[in-house]
Amino acid sequence: MYQQPSIDYRLLVDNMNTAILLVDSQLNIFYLNSACEALFDISLLRAHGQQVLNILHAPNDRFNTYEALQNTLHKGQAYTRREATISVNFKDIHVDYSVSQLHTGKPYHPLLLIELNPIDRMLKITKEENIIQQHQVTRQLIRGVAHEIKNPLAGIRGATQLLARRLNDPQYNEFTDIIIDEVDRLRILADTMLGSRQPPSYNLINIHEPIERVRALVTSQTKNKINITRDYDLSLPELYADRDQLIQVMLNVCVNAVQAMTENKSFMQQRLPALILRTRIHRLVTINGLLHRSTIRIDIEDNGPGIAEELLEGIFYPLVTGRANGTGLGLSIAQNIMQQHNGMIACQSIPGKTVFSLYLPWESNHATA
Ligand SMILES: Nc1ncnc2c1ncn2[C@@H]1O[C@H](COP(=O)(O)OP(=O)(O)OP(=O)(O)O)[C@@H](O)[C@H]1O
Ligand SMILES: [Mg+2]
Repeated sequence: MYQQPSIDYRLLVDNMNTAILLVDSQLNIFYLNSACEALFDISLLRAHGQQVLNILHAPNDRFNTYEALQNTLHKGQAYTRREATISVNFKDIHVDYSVSQLHTGKPYHPLLLIELNPIDRMLKITKEENIIQQHQVTRQLIRGVAHEIKNPLAGIRGATQLLARRLNDPQYNEFTDIIIDEVDRLRILADTMLGSRQPPSYNLINIHEPIERVRALVTSQTKNKINITRDYDLSLPELYADRDQLIQVMLNVCVNAVQAMTENKSFMQQRLPALILRTRIHRLVTINGLLHRSTIRIDIEDNGPGIAEELLEGIFYPLVTGRANGTGLGLSIAQNIMQQHNGMIACQSIPGKTVFSLYLPWESNHATA
C-alpha cells in the first residue's frame, strides 16, 4: 500500500524560495525562513523580537502600515503591496509582499503571515547573467587578439637579433635593444591576456587558508601601512577549489584596493586606509542561470574613493582601466577564474566603501572536483 512520505514542515518552509516572515499579535517578528534571512541579510536570532513595523514602514510612506496590519490581525483582511520599499539593516529593499492572518487554532492568538518577493533580486539576476554572457564573449575575443599579437613576436625578436649581429655597430644597438625590449613587453602582455593555461586543480580547502596568505602578502607589500580587519565566519565548510588561482583572484582585487587607497591622496586625507576581509555563508544566489542554495561569500572591502559610475558597469571587461598605467586585465582574469569555479565576483561601490564579493557555490561543489 502506498505510504505518504512524512515531511518536516519547518524543513519545507526553509527550503522555499519565497521569503516568509511570521509576526505575533504584538507585531513582533518571531520567525523568518532561510530565504527571508538571505533577503534581509540578518539571522533569525537577530530579527527575533524586532517590531515588524520598523521593517515594513518607510518614513515617507503615506500608506498606514500599522492600521493595515491590525486589520489583518483582528479582522482577517489580507492585503498585498506591490513595489514597496522596506528597510532592513539601513538598507532599502524593493519587494512585493502580502500579509494574511494565520490561524493557529487558538482564538486569541492570531498571527500574521507575510510573504515577500524581492524585485531587486530579479533585476540583479538578469543583470548578472548579462554580465557573465558578455564577459565570455569578450574573453574569447581578447584571447583571439592576444594570439594574433603573440604569433609574429617571436619572428620580430629573432629578426632583430640577427639584424643587430649583422650591423654589429653600437650606434644601432640602442635601437635594436628598444625593439627587443618592447617585443618582450608585448609578449608578457599577450600572455596575461591569454590567461592561465593550466586547468584548475581542485582540492578540498578551507577558504581561510588562501585568504590568510593574501593578507600576509598584502601586509608585507604595504609595509603594515594599511589596517586590515578580519571578519571571518570560521564555521564555513571546506570546498573544492584551486587554492593558487583563488589567491590570484584575491590578490588582483586587493592590489586594486590598495592602489585606490594609496594613489588618491586628496580623498584619503582625512582617513586611514582600511581593508576588511569578510567571509560569510550567502544563501540563494543565481550564477549563470543556476540558483545556488548556499554559497561561500568572500568580501574584500576598502575605504578608498570608490569606482566612478561610468567605469563600474564595465569593470570586469578586459582592458577597462581607470589608471594611467593599468592594463585593465586584473578583474577580467579574476572573473574568469571564478567562473571556472562556477562562481562569480560582483562589485558595489560608493565613495568610502567599495566591496568586491566573491561567490563560491559549495553545496554542489563536489561535482566539479
Ligand atoms: N577597489 C577599487 N577602488 C577604486 N577603483 C577600483 C577598485 N578596483 C578596481 N578599480 C578600478 O577598476 C579598474 C580595472 O581594474 P583591473 O584590475 O581590471 O585593471 P587595472 O588595475 O587597471 O590593471 P591591471 O591589469 O594591472 O590589474 C582599475 O583601473 C580601477 O580604476
Ligand atoms: Mg588591477
